[in-house]
Amino acid sequence: MWTILKCNAPPGRKKTTLCLLVVLALTGHVGQAEYADVVLNRRSDIEGVRPVIFPHWFHRIRYQCRVCHGELGFEMRAGANDVTMQEITDGKFCGACHNGQIAWSVENCDLCHSARPGTLAGIRGGHQTLGPGNW
Ligand code: HEC
Ligand code: HEC
Ligand code: HEC
Repeated sequence: MWTILKCNAPPGRKKTTLCLLVVLALTGHVGQAEYADVVLNRRSDIEGVRPVIFPHWFHRIRYQCRVCHGELGFEMRAGANDVTMQEITDGKFCGACHNGQIAWSVENCDLCHSARPGTLAGIRGGHQTLGPGNW
């Protein structure tokens, strides 16, 4: 964004000076990390399945934040959400989309339960999104 201002001359000068003020409108990404993959593991290890890798960046570029963090009720903190497989199968959380219509269905266990056993919950991968099976 460019803004051109006509300024008064400083004291002692006669002519007006044309001042050019450049305003750089900083867009978007200021101060937000680019979350890559999030590992969910509140229940998986305990129940004997591989922890879940949620490719956050992959989803972020497709959906607005409020879809998941508003409407679907995901709290914005890694490890904070206690999600059960039953709820997902009933169409809540991941299951709101992974229902065979918007995205592939819950029958594809391995696409979600793809982390190595014992992988702790949290953000993985910095600015990269590696998708299923990489942690
Ligand atoms: C769309 C992603 C997704 C798919 C597909 C999926 N799960 Fe899950 N599942 C999750 C998430 C998320 C959790 C919660 C993870 C956690 O906190 O440990 C979970 C939790 C579980 C748990 C832990 C105990 C419980 O009941 O909550 C089991 C067992 C489980 N899933 C089995 C399966 C099986 C078997 C399949 C395939 C028939 C499957 N899941 C497919 C996402 C998925
Ligand atoms: C498709 C669903 C979905 C979308 C869209 C989404 N998120 Fe998330 N977000 C999640 C899930 C799931 C988690 C992990 C929650 C957990 O581990 O319990 C998460 C975690 C987070 C975290 C926690 C990171 C940390 O360090 O603890 C932040 C912050 C976040 N999201 C911000 C955003 C922002 C900003 C947007 C939009 C640009 C967005 N999310 C879009 C589902 C989504
Ligand atoms: C708002 C809708 C939405 C929600 C909620 C959602 N997903 Fe997805 N997800 C999608 C779509 C759409 C795709 C792309 C499907 C395709 O390529 O056919 C996808 C793809 C994926 C992929 C594959 C990524 C890749 O690299 O191909 C994984 C893994 C996945 N989702 C896991 C999850 C898990 C785990 C959750 C819950 C924590 C979740 N998703 C919640 C819409 C969603």
